[in-house]
Amino acid sequence: MAFNIAIDGPAGAGKSTIAKAFAKRLSYIYVDTGAMYRAMALYLLREGISAEDVSGIEKACERADISLVHEGGIQKVLLNGEDVSSLIRSEEVGNMASASAQNGKVREKLVELQRQLAARTDVVMDGRDIGTCVLPKADVKIYLTASVHTRAVRRYKEYLEKGMEADLARIEEDIEKRDHQDMNREISPLKRAADAVLLDSSDLTIEEVLDAMMEICKNKKS
Ligand code: DC
Repeated sequence: MAFNIAIDGPAGAGKSTIAKAFAKRLSYIYVDTGAMYRAMALYLLREGISAEDVSGIEKACERADISLVHEGGIQKVLLNGEDVSSLIRSEEVGNMASASAQNGKVREKLVELQRQLAARTDVVMDGRDIGTCVLPKADVKIYLTASVHTRAVRRYKEYLEKGMEADLARIEEDIEKRDHQDMNREISPLKRAADAVLLDSSDLTIEEVLDAMMEICKNKKS
């Protein structure tokens, strides 16, 4: 049986950095489910379909083929065969992903793919609904969070490092809006699963978070 580790939490909590590094430590596959919602969002933006156009989004689900491939430890997101990994990281795509992720058809399509991946291999999967909905029987569940301000500063630094323009106040506003949207949507809202371990990374280094997670896993396995 594959060993499944679920990491959920709000935008900018460091989930992807942590999940990727943790997967590497364990030689597991890292599955970034946010990237799937972002690829779907990119498709909608390219097609000019708005987040309010429910039937347009549902039809688009049939035309957008999304898959994750892992080559040499690096995850690539394919949209109809095109590698869109570097095109999905903008705020515009992130905001559209949060809005379109409210659609039941979008979730159904992507959750199915996520479950297939987790069934056949050991994974560290991160997202919003992994412990509550996608993998309710995951072997380890972690809810990773940090204060809104800490998360905004992290995002801000990431943008500057990538040479992108950034406005801290706007990022903070966007994060608050996305938290609200992700936590209050009707289907699979972001929330801590009853059996998830809460980890607040506000005052922890990446290494400290990884060590804490290793302890949690050891306790589960023994
Ligand atoms: O983790 P991220 O910022 O890449 O995710 C982008 C959006 O996708 C997020 O705001 C909500 C949505 N999402 C989701 O609804 N469920 C997931 N499992 C992962 C992401």
